[in-house]
Amino acid sequence: MSEFHMTECIRKTKGRVPLSAGEIHALVRGVTDGAIPDYQTAAWLMAVCLNGLTDTETALLTAAMRDSGQVMSWDFLQGPVADKHSTGGVGDKTTLILAPIVAACGVFMPKMSGRGLGHTGGTIDKLESIPGLTTALQPEEFRALVKRVGCAVAMQSGNLAPADKKLYALRDVTETVNSIPLICASIMSKKLATGADHILLDVKVGSGAFMKQDEDAAELARLMREAAKADGRQCSAILTDMDRPLGRCIGNALEVQEAISVLRGDTDNTLGRLCIALAAELLRMAGKGSRDACTELAEQAVSSGAALRRFAQMIEGQHGDPRVTEDLSLLPKAKCSRVIRAESDGYISAMQSEEIGRACVLLGAGRMTKTDSIDPGAGVVLAAEYGDAVQKGDPLLTMYAAAESQLDEAEGRLRAAVTVSREKPREMPLIRRMLTD
Ligand code: URA
Repeated sequence: MSEFHMTECIRKTKGRVPLSAGEIHALVRGVTDGAIPDYQTAAWLMAVCLNGLTDTETALLTAAMRDSGQVMSWDFLQGPVADKHSTGGVGDKTTLILAPIVAACGVFMPKMSGRGLGHTGGTIDKLESIPGLTTALQPEEFRALVKRVGCAVAMQSGNLAPADKKLYALRDVTETVNSIPLICASIMSKKLATGADHILLDVKVGSGAFMKQDEDAAELARLMREAAKADGRQCSAILTDMDRPLGRCIGNALEVQEAISVLRGDTDNTLGRLCIALAAELLRMAGKGSRDACTELAEQAVSSGAALRRFAQMIEGQHGDPRVTEDLSLLPKAKCSRVIRAESDGYISAMQSEEIGRACVLLGAGRMTKTDSIDPGAGVVLAAEYGDAVQKGDPLLTMYAAAESQLDEAEGRLRAAVTVSREKPREMPLIRRMLTD
């Protein structure tokens, strides 16, 4: 390749001229090692944001970002290795349920996860509400635990796609987060570096998600699948509704409690059904049979108690107290609580998930600044779900926090987030679309 000039990359993307593979690699290398100044990278990111990238450029960018750090290998495991990624939502505790189900069915699931972001929760914060549990696993410990138990959840290591770390930090402050090719490269570089052969993407769509429109979510899912395919991985995507929170609990220990209830057999609800569907798709991709057969396998893993036992083993392997799977009272509890009740008869016609997520941050379940600590017991438990009939005075939800003042702060926001209407609202399927091979 002739000498690399970042100005030339900016000029090309600004004029919608595709970059070559060499240019994309040099650009990612320059971002990672700091050779390209932030102002030039920011100018290029803005050009991408405005003009997009071709599918080929997006796949090349994803691969170059994947190779900017460590790429994990699971070749030493005797069996299929699967991974799942959610684009982020409110009340999304599916990893805690899926990983042990899939592991109990003979598919390895090494999971790298992150902390909460804005109004959306993070798997690491949820798991760390279990007394003693750590997600800061050393690579050897992580590998050994996955081999022994079948699943483990570790905090994303700094050496996994470091180019994304730098690009994401710049995007965050230059109003360039919201670009489908950049989101694709950011998510998929990390997924591909984690090394699974079968990847399931849970693309959230709706008011509480990064993607507000179906078409955008479908385009993101298509691009992410293309990037996975270009890397020789099998990848399905499920578009799921985030116009309402997922399940009934939002907040860290509260979500662990709900995940344990599902693993104990309480699957006949939106959360349980989604987890069985996600598990069945992962098992199908991993060669465990037809979708119907895999649905049955996933259901049996729950009804037999095998998945719950895996979860307990995983917790123990991560130095947490596995007795929480039998005794929920061992999980942290908030000191204060308050019930919000319906002010009229009717049906729940809206549960604005983004607002509920933001109220949970006020209650202490999320962070307002990077250094804030989380209150593991804080959050909200919904007493009713979208579409349910309620009467005046019925509980709509309970808030949990460390102090009454936090309940005062969140109450107005939560009251406004839940709408009770006289008309029964239209049904909203939780799974909006499935993209599989
Ligand atoms: N999550 C990521 O990891 N990256 C994005 O760009 C958006 C969501």
